[in-house]
Amino acid sequence: MEPTLEGGVEVHTYLGPNDERTLADDVLDGLTRPLKELPPKHLYDARGSALFDAICELPEYYQTRTERLILQTHADDVVARTGAVELVELGSGSATKTRVLLDAMSRAATLQRYVPVDVSATTVHAVAELFGGEYEGLSVYGVVGDFERHLGHLPAPVGPRIVPFLGGTIGNFPAGSRRRLLRSLAKVLAPDGHLLLGTDLVKDPAIIEAAYNDSAGVTAQFNLNVLHVLNRELGADFDVPAFEHVAFYDRTQEWIEMRLRATAPQHVRIEALDLDIEFANREEMRTEISAKFTHERLRADLAAAGLELVEVFTDPDELFAVSLARLV
Ligand code: SAH
Ligand code: AVI
Repeated sequence: MEPTLEGGVEVHTYLGPNDERTLADDVLDGLTRPLKELPPKHLYDARGSALFDAICELPEYYQTRTERLILQTHADDVVARTGAVELVELGSGSATKTRVLLDAMSRAATLQRYVPVDVSATTVHAVAELFGGEYEGLSVYGVVGDFERHLGHLPAPVGPRIVPFLGGTIGNFPAGSRRRLLRSLAKVLAPDGHLLLGTDLVKDPAIIEAAYNDSAGVTAQFNLNVLHVLNRELGADFDVPAFEHVAFYDRTQEWIEMRLRATAPQHVRIEALDLDIEFANREEMRTEISAKFTHERLRADLAAAGLELVEVFTDPDELFAVSLARLV
């Protein structure tokens, strides 16, 4: 697709009309299994992205404010140690914490380019326009794409880069695809780049469960939103109020799962797939896992991708970690 050019701001789109295909394939694959499941990337249409932003402001959702604090404490050090001139951010979303890094690069007078990559077209366009106008001389190369499929389309480096992958999004992938993703991401680092990886840490399950069962019900709306996505994009007829949000911590896997539970038997027609699905009373469909990390899990996942830890930054309560890593 053609880039849109506005001064120093470009947005390149690699998700086209045919990309409903991946949604259709995921739905066909995930909803015809005995344990129904959908990959979490389909949660992030424009409404889902806005709901995620609202989650980040919730008192129970400690991740965002903790990661921001860690970044504020160490950004100048990270910029000095990496000599970075550009940020290539995966799953950038509305990139509110990214400002901390851009500001540090501005202070160090190294800032040249910002490359946000996200499946959510609305957020990439909004962030590109906002940051392009805000940071003097910054070139912005936005990428609307899937970081599992489109990393090959990223622009060549303009110098040493930091690849921020923040928010704990890596935890939304199970072990196999997590390591696969880290391996392909390692290639994006080029010879002298650094990964800056945000991961939520293993802790008291009550703290984690509260973060995914907030009292205002925003996470429930975020979770249920995927049914609206399927109704709109695939002509499905999910009766959204007939499903309820479920989130629980699995101590063995060390991850929290979000599910949608049918509160009564449901028959669902998915027109675009010519598919009929049955949900039994109280049957659940998994919509997200969010793995929590120990230092060992972190080190092992990075090592499996040919990456070594330079430093792990945490907060005083060890709630969250931001790790700086490079190619071995
Ligand atoms: N980095 C931000 C946003 C995290 S939310 C923060 O820390 O707050 C996760 C983001 O990843 C969303 O914006 C979502 O649209 C994006 N995302 C999820 N799966 C993706 C994929 N496969 N490819 C590209 N972006 C993806
Ligand atoms: C983006 N991701 C890391 C969030 C998480 O915590 O796993 C998404 C989210 N799900 C429920 N609340 C927030």
